[in-house]
Parts: sequence; structure tokens; C-alpha cells
Amino acid sequence: LIVFMYFSDEYKYSKSLSPSRPVLSVPPPPPVRIVLVESIPEGLEFNSSTTHPTIFKAWLNLMGEARSSIDIASFYWSLTNKDTGTHEPTANQGETILNTLADLSGKLSVRIAVNTPQGSQPQGDLRLLNNSGADIRTVNMKELTSGVLHTKFWVVDKKHIYIGSANMDWRSLTQVKELGAVVYNCSCLAADLGKIFEAYWLLGDSESIPSPWPSSFATLYNKDTPLQLPLNSTPSSVYLSSSPPSFCAAGRTPDLQSILSVMEDAESFIYIAVMNYLPTMEFSHPKRYWADIDTQLRRVGYEKRVKVRLLISCWASTKPVMFSFLKSLASVYDPKSGLDIQVRLFVVPASPKQKEIPFARVNHNKYMVTDKIAYIGTSNWSGDYFVSTAGSALVVNQTASVSPEPTVQSQLRAVFERDWDSNYSTPVAQHFNHKHLC
Ligand SMILES: *[C@@H]1O[C@H](CO)[C@@H](O)[C@H](O)[C@H]1NC(C)=O
Ligand SMILES: *[C@@H]1O[C@H](CO)[C@@H](O)[C@H](O)[C@H]1NC(C)=O
Ligand SMILES: *[C@@H]1O[C@H](CO)[C@@H](O)[C@H](O)[C@H]1NC(C)=O
Ligand SMILES: *[C@@H]1O[C@H](CO)[C@@H](O)[C@H](O)[C@H]1NC(C)=O
Ligand SMILES: *[C@@H]1O[C@H](CO)[C@@H](O)[C@H](O)[C@H]1NC(C)=O
Ligand SMILES: *[C@@H]1O[C@H](CO)[C@@H](O)[C@H](O)[C@H]1NC(C)=O
Repeated sequence: LIVFMYFSDEYKYSKSLSPSRPVLSVPPPPPVRIVLVESIPEGLEFNSSTTHPTIFKAWLNLMGEARSSIDIASFYWSLTNKDTGTHEPTANQGETILNTLADLSGKLSVRIAVNTPQGSQPQGDLRLLNNSGADIRTVNMKELTSGVLHTKFWVVDKKHIYIGSANMDWRSLTQVKELGAVVYNCSCLAADLGKIFEAYWLLGDSESIPSPWPSSFATLYNKDTPLQLPLNSTPSSVYLSSSPPSFCAAGRTPDLQSILSVMEDAESFIYIAVMNYLPTMEFSHPKRYWADIDTQLRRVGYEKRVKVRLLISCWASTKPVMFSFLKSLASVYDPKSGLDIQVRLFVVPASPKQKEIPFARVNHNKYMVTDKIAYIGTSNWSGDYFVSTAGSALVVNQTASVSPEPTVQSQLRAVFERDWDSNYSTPVAQHFNHKHLC
């Protein structure tokens, strides 16, 4: 009743613009803080002052803040040495995360949506969490869309969120290069990410995708009507995109549309750091060409003379066909005609001991930064991730130039430039042979 009266008073006074508006004793909402977070693999050193808190610290912080609930959307769980059959001291951070979360699972509501584990995937972490009181639902993406649940995000107390490239894997904290963002004290955005979580949660119990989605999953915030709020005291407009399109309730911008519109909106540069980049479907049979993103990059590069930089990962498991397409893109370079697309490969070096860690030592980043926008996602950039795989992204638009703190956009740009200029990155040349590099 009191809440209702507060709102009706507020309404009445603001309508009548009463000069004697009473002082209401409701505190202002706490300031919203956004923090970029990173995992820098053991041994990687940059000659740069650009550093950010670790993802490990961010996850510990979020668990420390939690009072009532933690919801986690995840691809798979592999947080211990046991899971990978290793004896790595650097697994200790992952093990700490798992134990802390298990401990909290008995005390508050911990819900985990995870892609249905396939064959040999370890399930010890999920068993431990389940036995500790967490609620777990497996989402059978293979049956639902022929894809996987590839999303990685956290929603804490319906107030704080984390989103980014890191999997629930100890290697994502110490042996794989990752980037994400944490937003503290932002119930509006947390409620919106909560809707994407609830969609996975519902699908965890279901063998089909609702169509249309019930209105409780709909959102008001998208690329055309983003949420307006100050982030670190900078006026910003923000929204969350989601894939695949069949998971998007009314109002939700599909992830691909979000990427294309961010590119369209750029006026001077587009910097992209993603692990995989392919103008094809990666997992479909028969093979299918899929060039929505590739065409958009070439188009804005040509029509608007936007400077395009792609920083792509090269490691032992990279499919060779990727290099042919990257060379093709990198050949769109002729400063005299205003064409300026450049591609570099980022290699995370590994000592003989680090080489023994399976599926590690790679740049797993999935973000884009333009002269206006910071886009932080969870998807590889090939067709499957926008057609059949579940992923999501945070899109932050900060055009305001007066700001007491560096904007997220400028921070992300600095991360990109640090990596691009580092000696871990190598230009893709026409005759380059990736076998010598990675
Ligand atoms: C959220 O806001 C409250 C009130 O201003 C503040 O005490 C708290 O430290 C903030 N939380 C985080 C994680 O920043
Ligand atoms: C580090 O960066 C500074 C300034 O950019 C440069 O002068 C110096 O030579 C660099 N050192 C190394 C080891 O690359
Ligand atoms: C650059 O690479 C060399 C070896 O190739 C290494 O010794 C050096 O530490 C690296 N420097 C930076 C700043 O990454
Ligand atoms: C969690 O444990 C219960 C039994 O306590 C079991 O029925 C359920 O299948 C388990 N769930 C998962 C996801 O392992
Ligand atoms: C970013 O914000 C500006 C100003 O509000 C708007 O014109 C522009 O379309 C936005 N860009 C994107 C990609 O949403
Ligand atoms: C990204 O692509 C690689 C190679 O296809 C795949 O192994 C990986 O699961 C995908 N994404 C992740 C884990 O982010």
C-alpha cells in the first residue's frame, strides 16, 4: 500500500508540477557501475598500462555480493583438475569458484541452465552442485535447434550481471584469454537478462520452443529503444541481444541484427576480436556459405571508408579454411582508394608444460568496438552461432563525449589496441603459412 501511495503521489505531484513537492524518503537508486574484466593466460605479458580486474575476482565478488539468488547460463562445466585429468596448480582458481558456489548452493537459490552434456563431457561439477542444493536444468539444444547452449552469463540477486566469453572452465581463468563485463547495481538490465535466463530455464523442461513466447519474456529494450541510464556516470544506452532468433521474444533484437546495426552505425572504425571468423556455417552438412557479417564489413569498408581491424585467434585446432577467407578479407586493402581492412592473428604462446593442457592457450575473446559502441558477446563469428546456437551480447552505446571516467567504449578500444600492437599478433599475409605460426 505504501509503495502504491508513493507512486501515486509521485505521479500527482509531477503532473501538477507542484512547487511544494514534499521530500520523499525513498533513497535514489544506487549508481550503476560497469567493469570490464579479463583473463590473461599465465605468462602473457603486455607492454601496456591497460589492465582490468580478473574474471576470477569478478566471479568471487559476485558470489560475495549474493544475498538471495545466483542464476548462471552456461555451455559446460569443467572447473577442476579432475575434469581435465591434469595436475595444474593454475586450476586452483576454478576449484575455488566451484567450492564457493557449492557452499552458496545450500544457502541461497542457485539455478544453473546448461547445455545437455554430450558423451564424454565431465559431469562431476554439476553433480557436486546438484548435491549441494543447486537447481540444474539441462537444455537439449541439439534436439531443439541442432545447436548448443553457448551462452555464458550470471544474474545475481536480480541486480548484478556478468556476461562474456569465459566458460565455466578453470582454463578460462588462467590458461585462455577471455573478456567480459560486470554490471553492478542495475536491476533494470538484470531483469532483462533474467528474461533470457528464464527462457533457457523453461526450455530445460521442454521439448519444444514456444512460438510465440509468452508476454512475460518480451522486452522493451532493443536496438531501436535501448535502456537509457548512466553507466559509471556516463549517459549510455544499453540493450541485450540474443540468438538464435527462435529464442527472441517480442522486442528482443536478434544477435546478428545487433552486430550488423553496430557496424552500420560506425563512422570511423570497427575493431573486432573474435576467436573464430568464418563466412560459412561451421557445423552444417552439406556445407553452406553464410556471408551476412562478411558482406556487411566489406560494404561499410567500401561505402563509408570505415577502418576495419579483425584480430582472430590461431591455435592448433583452427580449421585451415578460415585462413583462406581471412586472406580474402585482408586483401580489401588499398589506402589510395580508401579501402582499409586489416586482419591479424593472435597466438597465445605455450611452454612445453602448457602445451599439455588440452584445449587451452588461445584468445577466446568475442567483442567488437566502434567509434561509438562496445559490443560484448558470447558467440564465435560463423553462421551457426546466429542461426542455431544460443548466445547473447551486451551492447553499450556511449556517444557522450563529456565523461568523468573513461567510457566502456574507450576502455575496450584500449584493450583491442594493446592486443593488436602486441608481439602476440601477426598480420595475415597472402603467402603466410599458419602451420609455422600456430
Ligand atoms: C550498490 O549500491 C550500494 C548503495 O549505493 C552500494 O553500497 C554497493 O556497494 C553497490 N554495490 C556494488 C557491487 O557496487
Ligand atoms: C614498451 O613501450 C614503450 C612505449 O610505447 C617503448 O618505448 C618500449 O620500447 C617498449 N618496450 C618493449 C620491450 O617493447
Ligand atoms: C615479445 O616477444 C619476445 C619473444 O618473441 C619476448 O621475449 C618478449 O617478452 C615479448 N615482449 C612483449 C612486450 O610481449
Ligand atoms: C539432481 O539430483 C537428483 C536427486 O537428488 C536427481 O534426481 C537429478 O536428476 C539430479 N539432477 C542433475 C541435473 O544431475
Ligand atoms: C547510438 O546512439 C546514438 C544517439 O542516441 C544513435 O543515433 C545511434 O543510432 C545509436 N547506435 C546504435 C548502434 O544503436
Ligand atoms: C568456438 O569455436 C570453437 C571451434 O569451433 C569451438 O571449439 C568452441 O566450442 C566454440 N566456442 C566456445 C567454447 O566459446
